[in-house]
Amino acid sequence: MGTLEGTRVLLGVSGGIAAYKAADLVRRLRDAGAEVRVVMTAGARQFVTPATFQALSGHPVRSDLWDPAAEAAMGHIELARWAEIVLVAPASANTLARLAHGLADDLLSTLCLATSAPLMVAPAMNQQMWAHPATQANVATLGARGVVLLGPDSGGQACGEFGAGRLVEPPAIVERLAALRAPGVLAGRVVVVSAGPTFEDVDPVRFIGNRSSGRMGFAIAAAAAAAGAEVRLVAGPVHLPTPARVARRDVRSAREMHAAVLAAVAGADAYVGAAAVADFRPAVAAPDKIKKTDGAPAPTLLLERTEDILAAVAALPARPFCVGFAAETGDVEAYARGKLQRKRVDLVCANRVGAPGEGFDADDNALLVLGPDGFRLDLGRAPKAVLATRLVELIAQRLPAPRAAGARA
Ligand code: C5P
Repeated sequence: MGTLEGTRVLLGVSGGIAAYKAADLVRRLRDAGAEVRVVMTAGARQFVTPATFQALSGHPVRSDLWDPAAEAAMGHIELARWAEIVLVAPASANTLARLAHGLADDLLSTLCLATSAPLMVAPAMNQQMWAHPATQANVATLGARGVVLLGPDSGGQACGEFGAGRLVEPPAIVERLAALRAPGVLAGRVVVVSAGPTFEDVDPVRFIGNRSSGRMGFAIAAAAAAAGAEVRLVAGPVHLPTPARVARRDVRSAREMHAAVLAAVAGADAYVGAAAVADFRPAVAAPDKIKKTDGAPAPTLLLERTEDILAAVAALPARPFCVGFAAETGDVEAYARGKLQRKRVDLVCANRVGAPGEGFDADDNALLVLGPDGFRLDLGRAPKAVLATRLVELIAQRLPAPRAAGARA
């Protein structure tokens, strides 16, 4: 094969019965041309001996952060720098939790913090442990940080149960790793993403906001960066970490977002408007806190329309490929088609909000993607990170060829 020729792969093996499959994985990585160094957690050593991995990788196996002889040969920081990719397979529930929380109390977790190489994890565990909200939250945290998740597969488990939690088979892991090393589908492209809500001030202590968490937009930014794009993320007020290799600009109001997006789209290939921009704002924000005075009537708020950012970007003379979102509580498709025409955008992602577990501030979403030429693709319900990757692939497919330098807006 040779698809990973010369690639320096640091393989972290954590504790679980699937650790035995990591031996085959080392073999296949080397067959594909990779140079492999193996780090085992204490748990992994209960399942497979280091001698197995040493023989297969051709290098001593490391487990201990405090081993002076090993540190003298190649210190852990040196090892972290050596890696061109860090792959944790199998990643146990415990290892996922420790990576999500940034622990550095053993060699593998320390290496994962100390490296600037992309991190890919292939979880394997009992189906109940995988489904647990704690594990799912950890996986979402890792995904938002740009960690590439692979699997798990579903099927019969070593514990006799049936469900999601099987390690993805080694050939598929090698294939995915090779795809990650190949230039991404958006390599050389510039993608601007807006995400999160906007807050429109009523007075210095009050504002009008909405329930958007920003998670869908952040997942799209992470997926676009993983696909090789230069990503500029304009974020409303959210509590989310910046995905890896993404340039982020924080804003508060629709007015600020409008200015930041218009500046960011200069020279961009695509704009994804995933933000839940306020449609109205108080016409005047009171300079001082509005007081309640006994006997006086409650104040009336006069609202005005905000800027339509997406429509403004779509109206630019040399506009980028524009993707909008349509969050509706009912009649999703009809409203979304209307939006497609009204705002003259290239794709609209329609989602129903208000359904339990979907839409605003939820882990999952259900997206229906519509295009002007009658294009219709139902991406179904899935975790936001999965939908984001599929949407990015779709954008890459439909993006016009790059314009000549200097011909952009
Ligand atoms: O018009 P509506 O709010 O339903 O359209 C939603 C789409 O338009 C989203 O992509 C959102 O980011 C964008 N939008 C915008 N500026 C606004 C309102 C919505 O860019 N003021």
